[in-house]
Amino acid sequence: ATSGLFKNEPTADFTKIELRKQFPQRLNDIRAKIPVTAPLFINGRDVMTDARFASVNPALPEEILGTVHRADRTHAADAVASALTAFPSWRDQPASKRGAILQKAASYARRHLVELAAWQVLEIGKQWDQAYADVSEAIDFLEFYSQEAIRLAKPQLLSNAPGELNFLNFEPRGIAAVIAPWNFPLAISCGMTAAALVTGNCVVYKPSSLTPLTGRQLVEIYTAAGVPPGVFNYLPGSGDDIGDYLSAHPDINLIAFTGSAEVGLAICEKAARRHPEQKGIKRVICEMGGKNAAIIDEDADLDEAIPHLLQSAFGFQGQKCSACSRVIILESIYQEFTNRFVAAAAALRIGPAEDPGCFLGPVADQAQQQKILDYIQIGKKEGTVLYESTKPESGYYVPIVILGDIKPEHRVAQEEIFGPVLSVMRAKDFGAALAIANASKYALTGAVFSRSPANLERAAREFRVGNLYLNRGCTGALVERQPFGGFGLSGGGTKAGGKEYLLQFLNPRVVTHNT
Ligand code: NAD
Ligand code: ALA
Repeated sequence: ATSGLFKNEPTADFTKIELRKQFPQRLNDIRAKIPVTAPLFINGRDVMTDARFASVNPALPEEILGTVHRADRTHAADAVASALTAFPSWRDQPASKRGAILQKAASYARRHLVELAAWQVLEIGKQWDQAYADVSEAIDFLEFYSQEAIRLAKPQLLSNAPGELNFLNFEPRGIAAVIAPWNFPLAISCGMTAAALVTGNCVVYKPSSLTPLTGRQLVEIYTAAGVPPGVFNYLPGSGDDIGDYLSAHPDINLIAFTGSAEVGLAICEKAARRHPEQKGIKRVICEMGGKNAAIIDEDADLDEAIPHLLQSAFGFQGQKCSACSRVIILESIYQEFTNRFVAAAAALRIGPAEDPGCFLGPVADQAQQQKILDYIQIGKKEGTVLYESTKPESGYYVPIVILGDIKPEHRVAQEEIFGPVLSVMRAKDFGAALAIANASKYALTGAVFSRSPANLERAAREFRVGNLYLNRGCTGALVERQPFGGFGLSGGGTKAGGKEYLLQFLNPRVVTHNT
């Protein structure tokens, strides 16, 4: 990884018996020590608070995994103050030193990969392979951003007139508030914090209140790697309270947010309001939701399309911003596709994520469960049920639901449900399918299954999403290979895991020498 040639961390190979044995062992290790305690981490020290909340296993809500200390605004103010104090020295480190620290963080995460992943199995209901992939992606972010930061740190010589030398270089923006979602609880948190840190910013990190224990792993990882006190601060607490306070704080220069469009837009609004003590404009990086579509063309290879779409629509219970929630099918293949897809979906088992035989686990919490169940009722009124599975009675489970006869204007075709609910729509031809796919305020991912080169080329031009996959499912972007992010209400056009991403965290400066 230090050679400058980036390589993705390999995916889990469960043909290896050692790996198959490790997951249950690590899950047992966790169960032997729960409930754990997760204090705040400010200025290099654990901070206890009176207010606390529990992190629970969504498959078994009575299983308390940990007690989490809840930060209030005073703690948030302390965290920003400690980041401000630590900033000049962190900013002035050579990029190579910060990069080396993040590479150590990657090595630490690699050594503890299965243990880190096992917590996600219990805290948010990720299947073994998905949890492993989440930690692998975190490692990729650490490695890739380290390399990119070192590359960007070399002053670039610009074109020159005689007697003049012009250099472009970058410096950090200052203090970054990183506000993260629960669905990729280590990867996305690690990606946003690593980008901020490696470019020389100090970080106040607020994890989602549904995955604070996974979030706390970043304290372990960065501390083990040698990130100095005050540079990285961990602040679990309520979004409305701490998140809101950080968004408006005059000393926050940058907000890296991943989550829903509703919260992202509220953060943009808050960050834009001028605070009397504010000295600059806050940069807001917003990665938000999706309502992603897959088009099934008349000549699509269904043997390929069906397994890809099962994974995209129902992998991790459909709780990915990239998940496929609309399938648009050409008339002539509608019946064949839906018959085969429903039969394949009916073979999927739902149960605890710790059981590797289950394709789907519980959804994140009771509020998500209720929201999805409400959308299922809406969908039943708007269309027809092609398939509804059963589900376990206790735990935060929802059924798989496939809805037919959905029209583009229906709520289940427009609103992000964030669960295993798939809306199926008909299109009279490929152009109509593209028009339906694009008829969304979101523009994150999309997929097309077709054997027609002309249609694939047309989709590449006209299917307007941030990440389009041809003859492949629409989830599972890899760092560097598929820089990830959308536009419209899905985001501001930034690409996590891509070469340009770090520029968001930097101020460009040009130095001119009159020689
Ligand atoms: P969310 O918007 O509810 O919460 C995200 C974070 O914002 C949490 O830490 C939350 O506590 C915090 N927050 C809540 N209210 C806040 C406020 N007023 N001010 C500041 N912060 C506040 O999202 P979620 O439910 O955690 O995650 C799911 C959403 O994230 C989905 O919409 C999904 O599509 C999206 N997502 C997008 C991407 C992407 O890359 N585009 C990736 C993953 C998830
Ligand atoms: N990067 C994640 C995916 O592509 C969200 O599925």
